Amino acid sequence: MPIREPELALVFGLVSSKRVLVTGGAGFIPSNFIRHLLANTPYEVISLDALTYAGNVENLADVMSHERLSFVHGDIRDADLVRDVAAEVDVIVNAAAESHVEKSILEGGSEFVRTNVEGTQILLDAIRDAPVERFILISSSEVYGTAERDPMDEEHPLNPRSPYAATKAGADRLAYAYWVTYELPIVIVRPFNNYGPRQHPEKVVPRFITQALEGRPLTIHGDGHASRDWLYVDDDAEAIEAIIETPIDRVAGQVLNVATGVDISVGRIAELVLDVLGKPSSLKTHVPERPGQVDRHIGSTEKIERLTGWRARTSFEEGLERTVAWYREHASWWRGILAPV
Ligand SMILES: NC(=O)c1ccc[n+]([C@@H]2O[C@H](COP(=O)([O-])OP(=O)(O)OC[C@H]3O[C@@H](n4cnc5c(N)ncnc54)[C@H](O)[C@@H]3O)[C@@H](O)[C@H]2O)c1
Repeated sequence: MPIREPELALVFGLVSSKRVLVTGGAGFIPSNFIRHLLANTPYEVISLDALTYAGNVENLADVMSHERLSFVHGDIRDADLVRDVAAEVDVIVNAAAESHVEKSILEGGSEFVRTNVEGTQILLDAIRDAPVERFILISSSEVYGTAERDPMDEEHPLNPRSPYAATKAGADRLAYAYWVTYELPIVIVRPFNNYGPRQHPEKVVPRFITQALEGRPLTIHGDGHASRDWLYVDDDAEAIEAIIETPIDRVAGQVLNVATGVDISVGRIAELVLDVLGKPSSLKTHVPERPGQVDRHIGSTEKIERLTGWRARTSFEEGLERTVAWYREHASWWRGILAPV
């Protein structure tokens, strides 16, 4: 679908609204975020996505013909395209990324550096030429490495432990440097581990759910004690919207965790998934731990609540039930893309 011409905004009465570019829109978090924006704001949304193995236009199928959504099939490393698209929008949310920690460990960092760091640099240079109202970089809690203190606030040292995490830290600090150097309206957001509908089954929560639905063993790396702060994807969407709504002077140049302040171990998640689906605990299987993994993550929620008023609303039990229900009802979606595990 082509990008709408500016005069059409007048026809749709969107002059006082915002045009929001969401990169990586066919991915997990961004597709849920786009659906949230279309349902809860008057904003016009433009999605730019290269449709890698992780991008799935099915993730936007129910909103693809929405009058306020345009989809551009393209790469954030295409500087000419990015400049053209950036010139049309008020807000950029850069969520496009190579996002799988284990893939970066198995295959090395090349593609991760190219998309996560170089792609971010190309977007940042585009807004030097065509200023926007704000640029939100979706970074990651993985940049912190294993927690040195509990909870982890935004001043926690950055000790990325995987090639993925290191490239996210590179983009994160590059965005910060563009704020300092060029005084661009940049906000850096560090979501903790998201889960919810439309997440690729290579990631641990949907992997456990799809394994359990098929009666296959749930493969837990190591003893399962590693814990994370699990954020329901709709809560993350509300957080990013809150960051768009907050006066820019409050958030420009800031780093904001998006977290719940609660951690749950991977072993416990396996048990909860089996409980919800009424499957036997004998399906839990331990396989060797892999290098580069983070041990424990709990995010401090104080700063984002103070600056934007946002806090997570969904308990893990509630979010997991909704997620399990979605995977149960959408077996053809995940069977089509099921990653070998
Ligand atoms: N999933 C999580 O738990 C989590 C946690 C913290 C931060 N994040 C970050 O949030 C963002 C979204 O994560 P996700 O899990 O939804 O990712 P995802 O892998 O589901 O989606 C990524 C999307 O980016 C697109 N993409 C990849 N390379 C591209 C390129 N060069 N140009 C344009 N599009 C490209 C893919 O096609 C895909 O649609 C990423 O930046 C990720 O690092 C994710």
